[in-house]
Amino acid sequence: MTIKSILKSLAYTGSDFTDANSVLNLRCSEFEVNNWVISDFVVHKLVPIVGVRPFPLNEQMLMVAALCRLNPTHIFEWGTNVGKSARIFHETCKALGRNTEIHSIDLPDNVKHVEHPGARRGYLVKHIKKVKLHLGDGLDTSLRILAEERNQHARPLFFLDGDHSYSSVKRELRTITEKNPHADILLHDTFYQSKESGYNIGSYQAIEELLHDEPGKFRSLSQNNGLPGMTLLWRSAGR
Ligand SMILES: C[S@@+](CC[C@H](N)C(=O)[O-])C[C@H]1O[C@@H](n2cnc3c(N)ncnc32)[C@H](O)[C@@H]1O
Repeated sequence: MTIKSILKSLAYTGSDFTDANSVLNLRCSEFEVNNWVISDFVVHKLVPIVGVRPFPLNEQMLMVAALCRLNPTHIFEWGTNVGKSARIFHETCKALGRNTEIHSIDLPDNVKHVEHPGARRGYLVKHIKKVKLHLGDGLDTSLRILAEERNQHARPLFFLDGDHSYSSVKRELRTITEKNPHADILLHDTFYQSKESGYNIGSYQAIEELLHDEPGKFRSLSQNNGLPGMTLLWRSAGR
């Protein structure tokens, strides 16, 4: 065997990353995925496209795990910014052969926001027809699209990565929970640190209040061992 053929035999083919291989014990009560299979996919497929900023490896793992396990019919995510999260969702659905609708929303150009991407909006997904880009407020636009579809079997996943202030995230969580009883929710920038750090802990606080006010409605899984932090609020693993 030549070195070239050995390297070729070790190369990542993506063939392990299937619905059947990536999820374990679907009939059991706990969320469980195959972290080795998902690691291979993240390292070999996603990182070369999106790097590890703003989403470190552990957060990409959670994003992919959420899709593997929860199998949403729709993904609504905001804000689009340059399109890294939208691209992660798209590549994952594509690799799994899923037909999930992906909608990504950012604020119109005339709305001022410190993180607004301007002309760079969505450049990582602009050429991908399956990712629908919209302008508007993320929550209002998503709910309008869902209402227009009148799909009673929709099981959407919302990815909240817009304005991470306490009041915005609180409004987003409360409204989604009220209007979409089957929705799962993934949130970015959820790390908690004590006040000496000076960090914005708005998302963390809004999540804690939701879990306190609506006991038993969601279960949560977090990657909160450092910034930026990500939390998945999921309803039922038995899909
Ligand atoms: C941290 S960036 C998002 C990063 C993005 N998910 C990515 O993967 O590249 C925050 C984005 O949210 C947008 N944004 C802030 N508030 C929003 C809202 N209410 N609706 C939609 N987008 C919003 C900002 O314009 C900005 O582009």
